Amino acid sequence: SAGVARRATGELEVAGVPVSDLAGRFGTPVYVLDEADLRARARAYRDAFTRELAPSSVHVYYAGKAFLSIAVARWVHAEGLRIDTATGGELAVALRAGIPGADIGMHGNNKSDAEIDRALAAGVGRIVVDSLPEVARVADAAARRGVRAPVMVRVTTGVHAGGHEYISTAHEDQKFGLSIAAGRAEEAVAAVLARPELELLGLHSHIGSQVLEAEAFTVAARSVLELRARIAETHGVLVGEVDLGGGYGVAYLPGEVPLDPAMLAAELARTVREVCAELGTDVPDVSIEPGRAIVAPAGCTLYTVGTVKPVRATDGADRLYVSVDGGMSDSIRPALYGAAYTATIASRASAAPPVRSRVVGKHCESGDIVVHDVDLPADVAAGDLLAVPATGAYGRSMASQYNLVPRPGVVAVAGGEARAVIRRETEEDVLALDLG
Ligand code: LLP
Repeated sequence: SAGVARRATGELEVAGVPVSDLAGRFGTPVYVLDEADLRARARAYRDAFTRELAPSSVHVYYAGKAFLSIAVARWVHAEGLRIDTATGGELAVALRAGIPGADIGMHGNNKSDAEIDRALAAGVGRIVVDSLPEVARVADAAARRGVRAPVMVRVTTGVHAGGHEYISTAHEDQKFGLSIAAGRAEEAVAAVLARPELELLGLHSHIGSQVLEAEAFTVAARSVLELRARIAETHGVLVGEVDLGGGYGVAYLPGEVPLDPAMLAAELARTVREVCAELGTDVPDVSIEPGRAIVAPAGCTLYTVGTVKPVRATDGADRLYVSVDGGMSDSIRPALYGAAYTATIASRASAAPPVRSRVVGKHCESGDIVVHDVDLPADVAAGDLLAVPATGAYGRSMASQYNLVPRPGVVAVAGGEARAVIRRETEEDVLALDLG
């Protein structure tokens, strides 16, 4: 990631702090976040979309599921972003960070009554409704509180996009949203309009995650804008806002090309204008919900190498298995989605020849893989620090205590200073939950 550099000594530093300092002070494994880099990415999205869509107003919601902590919520909010939450836990963190309710959005396909009520109590800026029964539940909860709930209707456009089937969300046969094609979206809109306790802010579409082509978003945008125009004809209400979701792909490996926020904003703005002109409707306000694109490249994971052993691979050639002191409990994406990462020795330079290697964890299954394929120097050895870049998103946020391994902490580095923003768990933390 941007703030990572190799010192003359051969050691890596993150935002000016050598990795040996980080490992010495905070232990390994540890997630390291470069605050300036994260903030710059937040600004890049806000600036590009604001510029391209002016005079429409733009709201960028940071998708907290990618990684949320009090510090991160404050950083992105200070950069002019709002916070998207999908559970009571994420909402609680955003509120604890002091984010005003009006700058928080609430998602979820199966919100509990307690979550809905808490969102209303906090005065969230929007609740994104995901089903017909939920329209009634939010309206009833608003009635009980004597408030009007601002809602968006989550629609599915049929656009199938994203890095893996489990993270693409707008095709028909999956749990999210209300289908435009099947008429469910319009039904939900009618249901919202029929309840005076609900204020219909607009329509929401999220097509998937780790999407690398802008076109998938423009196709989805067209379909949402057409629905908006149909609703205006049927109900006489032209909704003011369209949320085009998140899902912007990042580079995990050298040579991969991330989706560029300026290019994406320009293409989306052009599409929105063109389609609205065709349909004879005003251009709506636009919101987006990037998570990964803001936090993934700003983070890396530091591990300490333990056992190293050569293994005869299925193709007959040798492969070096390099075990680290974490694994699928802190890095589930390779096992869950076949996600590819890379790794490098962080504590020193090496002139040893590269050998085909696989970075694996300490868990008791063979799918416990951190990096499937990487060339590491042949002299990689126990005690070396290994850095895996671009782990800021869906790493800590999806971490588990598998094998009763305490979850790593998160350290933020800025201006040559490091501080823990999530403390490392201890064995005591793990034991504390066990009531015997
Ligand atoms: N908005 C909604 C409604 C979402 O469901 C998501 C992600 C986002 C925004 C943010 O997407 P992003 O910009 O971060 O791609 N655990 C998976 C990703 C799951 C994404 C779920 N929803 C992974 O590790 O790839």
